[in-house]
Amino acid sequence: MSVQRLLTTNSAAKSPVISLAGIDEVDGKRAEICKKIVEACEDWGIFQVIDHGVDTKLISDMTRLAREFFALPPEDKLKFDMSGGKKGGFIVSSHLQGEAVQDWREIVTYFSYPTKTRDYSRWPDKPEGWIEATKEYSDKLMGLACKLLEVLSEAMGLEKEALTKACVDMDQKVVVNYYPKCPQPDLTLGLKRHTDPGTITLLLQDQVGGLQATRDNGKSWITVQPVDGAFVVNLGDHGHYLSNGRFKNADHQAVVNSNYSRLSIATFQNPAPEATVYPLKIREGEKSVLEEPITFAEMYRRKMSKDLELARLKKLAKEQQLQDLENAKLDAKQLQDMENPKLDAKPIEEIFA
Ligand code: OGA
Ligand code: NI
Repeated sequence: MSVQRLLTTNSAAKSPVISLAGIDEVDGKRAEICKKIVEACEDWGIFQVIDHGVDTKLISDMTRLAREFFALPPEDKLKFDMSGGKKGGFIVSSHLQGEAVQDWREIVTYFSYPTKTRDYSRWPDKPEGWIEATKEYSDKLMGLACKLLEVLSEAMGLEKEALTKACVDMDQKVVVNYYPKCPQPDLTLGLKRHTDPGTITLLLQDQVGGLQATRDNGKSWITVQPVDGAFVVNLGDHGHYLSNGRFKNADHQAVVNSNYSRLSIATFQNPAPEATVYPLKIREGEKSVLEEPITFAEMYRRKMSKDLELARLKKLAKEQQLQDLENAKLDAKQLQDMENPKLDAKPIEEIFA
């Protein structure tokens, strides 16, 4: 049975690719670029940016070092094992409690912001140079994320810093995903369907591809085609709530394939746990998408318990389906036996004779 349920893959639709060249020229192209970003957030919640100013060499170093890490022998990787609640390091697959199928991936996570909470003992020091590259990468990506949040704040009619300020002390984690090639890719997902909980995510994916987004609640999936050197930008739940639902929190998943392993580096910008989640702007005639202000920690807790409940229901439905199938098989057999009595079956009179 396929767990993917890819009913259709919509290949005609494409999520936007936006060049940021000239975004800092106030009297130049800025307005035009900002308009594209805002429209992409309203329509999709997921798009790609090119000419973003992050050095190509830094991007290729990060990718190369990450690939080298995953190629290390298990004992080297497991030195950074983060199972058991350690903050940062390596883990094989991650899955929701109660889900029957595990994600087909290995990950390394770096908690990079606030900088005072950085624990370098949890940052893999092999291959050499990875710590330095990750430091620079996380700083540059924090800069790019804030730049994009400025655009969205302005579009909401607020001061530039409104969204970053609402995060209180912005949190960042860099998650390096490695999806090994999979002998039976239609039996599993690299990463199950989800929305990111935080404010804004920047994802670097290699040329293999596998990231998909849906705009119709999972009926069709659109592949986010890899663009060399681009970052995929997507908003998370926090960004969605703060804009009162105006900006979409992209619903997405990652599929695996049988020919190639795949690498992606997701950098999540999240609010501080105690930051308040509530729309910063409610437009005329709109109702708030949230009944009351809650903390980000509480928003996350509710999301997780909803996900667990959904996973439980899905599992129950699957068990019920299997049971129904078994019952249907039994019914069919009985029917067949009645219609075609076995030739060697004795007539009833003989049995009672
Ligand atoms: C994620 C994510 C997609 C990918 O890590 O949250 O959506 O393509 N990753 O790896
Ligand atoms: Ni995601």
